Amino acid sequence: MTNWQELEHKYFMNTVERVPLTLVRGEGTRVWDEDGREYLDFVGGWGVNSLGHCSPVVAEAVAEQAHTLIQTSNQFYTTPQIRLAELLVQNSCLDKVFFCNSGAEANEGAVKLARRYGKLHLNGAYEVITAMNSFHGRTLAMVAASGQPKFQQPYVPLPVGFINVEYNNIEVIKTATTKETCAVMLEPVQGEGGVNLPDDNYLIAVRAWCDQRGILLILDEIQTGIGRMGTLFAYEQYGVEPDIMTLAKGLGSGVPIGAILAKDRASVFTPGEHGSTFGGNPLACAAAYATLRFILDNDIAGNVRRVGQYLITGLESLRQKFQFITDVRGRGLLVAMEFSSDIAWSVAMACLDSGLLVNRLKPNALRFMPPLIICRDEIDEALGILDKVLSGIAS
Ligand SMILES: Cc1ncc(COP(=O)(O)O)c(C=O)c1O
Repeated sequence: MTNWQELEHKYFMNTVERVPLTLVRGEGTRVWDEDGREYLDFVGGWGVNSLGHCSPVVAEAVAEQAHTLIQTSNQFYTTPQIRLAELLVQNSCLDKVFFCNSGAEANEGAVKLARRYGKLHLNGAYEVITAMNSFHGRTLAMVAASGQPKFQQPYVPLPVGFINVEYNNIEVIKTATTKETCAVMLEPVQGEGGVNLPDDNYLIAVRAWCDQRGILLILDEIQTGIGRMGTLFAYEQYGVEPDIMTLAKGLGSGVPIGAILAKDRASVFTPGEHGSTFGGNPLACAAAYATLRFILDNDIAGNVRRVGQYLITGLESLRQKFQFITDVRGRGLLVAMEFSSDIAWSVAMACLDSGLLVNRLKPNALRFMPPLIICRDEIDEALGILDKVLSGIAS
């Protein structure tokens, strides 16, 4: 039998500490390894598989599109991208869309758009204020935007134009704003940085400050968007509307696609100022259209609200039982559990042995991001496994 993990070490760049598991198949909320062993998936491709693995709706849309038209250049009109753009605009507060291929690329484009806005309307202002512990992607500029030294240090000097300030603190945004500031860019809830929820009035205060200064508010909804938090977009829960919003992850339910959305007044690109060879590719757009249509038509966000609360309540019960669980936080199906010591990797490995995939968010925290179609029985199953694993650690 092929030793895939050995081959990976031989041929692959060493960028990720992989879980020792080779997955070969997925269906709904489950995946299978090369030995045919089944796992309940609470990682969901890092918050990507919104409709689960190989959702028939997405698979059929991709198959049909693959037999019809896979790629043209963006010199031509193609129908899947226009239909998807229309659906996104009709169901959000934004007016215009640009498609790309990933989250980092969407954020790069959003920052370029804000800089164009700064050139045109703010005397050339170009700086973007972002938050500590944020995560906006792996390109050089997005590493500078992401306020996490561990991602920045290996690559200094970083591109200029990003000011990282404390999250959930409006005063530091005010202090950092100068005549060079063109935008504030935030995740409504910080995902990779720890599932950090802001105070209810934080985004309202940031919005008001941006309005007062005439600068743009960019919300990175790459992890929080497309139903993950129990509404189609997280901004709906915080009483604000962004000028620019970025999407990726769950938009294509596993097929790579990113998007920049903007209000009309912020949609200032002119032909040739931005572009992408694959962005808006018919295949990816067909997958995303099928995903979004299904989410809207079946009130998947409603399911996320119900089962998300059920998951959080279940995790809270575990917290009552095990003193070394110090926190449970999150909303919808973006939830973290924190421990008093660095046991997250060993808990994740023990869960794996028992047939449950969970994400080690930090040395002392796990993150749960199952497909949005998950049901209560499956949550019970996951909670049962966690209970057993944590009991083993407690004893
Ligand atoms: C909030 C947020 N923004 C941007 C990104 C980067 O997305 P990608 O990995 O598709 O470039 C991520 C990825 O985790 C993310 O969570």
